[in-house]
Amino acid sequence: MTGLLTRLGRRAFGSREVALRPARPADAEALARLHGQSFRIGWDAAEFERLLANRLSRALVGTDGPCGAPVGFILLSGVSPEIEILSVAVEPGRRGEGIARRLVEAAFGTLAAEGFQIVFLEVEEGNAPALRLYARTGFREIGRRAGYYRGAAGEPVAALTMRRDIA
Ligand SMILES: CC(C)(COP(=O)(O)OP(=O)(O)OC[C@H]1O[C@@H](n2cnc3c(N)ncnc32)[C@H](O)[C@@H]1OP(=O)(O)O)[C@@H](O)C(=O)NCCC(=O)NCCS
Repeated sequence: MTGLLTRLGRRAFGSREVALRPARPADAEALARLHGQSFRIGWDAAEFERLLANRLSRALVGTDGPCGAPVGFILLSGVSPEIEILSVAVEPGRRGEGIARRLVEAAFGTLAAEGFQIVFLEVEEGNAPALRLYARTGFREIGRRAGYYRGAAGEPVAALTMRRDIA
């Protein structure tokens, strides 16, 4: 409930302006920090450097103001016409402001212009914020992979496979 009120409050009363732009190699450190704050298994800066340099990768960041630090990112990889969302994350203190939704929708615009037609992703069953985000951005569930992830206590957690077609 508190989370919902915080989200509504941020939307109603506004928050710092977030600008979107393509990720740059120099963002690797910041993206590793955001990833580490968001997932049990973090990817380090060297991993992000490698991913950002890969020609199959597409990445956008949301920054705190036009020149500020990254507060969220989306990273995708694929070969036209199919692409996969590898990761989406928003700084814990900035969640619920609509940043992830803007990142996903902005990525769709870029992908459509590049000829991509289908976007896939995998998400942990039970990740309510992510499932809500993906439902709101037009994804539908197309499969379930039992025991694909490990939970905090090492327990098996299913992955839901989702798909969205770009019109
Ligand atoms: C998932 C995540 C990226 C969402 O980022 P965000 O910027 O807070 O999301 P948005 O503010 O754009 O919200 C998108 C939708 O999810 C809902 N949502 C956000 N946080 C929520 C929460 N804690 N519980 C339920 N719904 C939530 C929003 O209300 C919104 O739906 P609405 O438009 O119907 O109101 C963020 O929670 C995060 O970084 N989580 C950790 C990493 C992760 O799980 N990534 C996704 C798996 S790859």
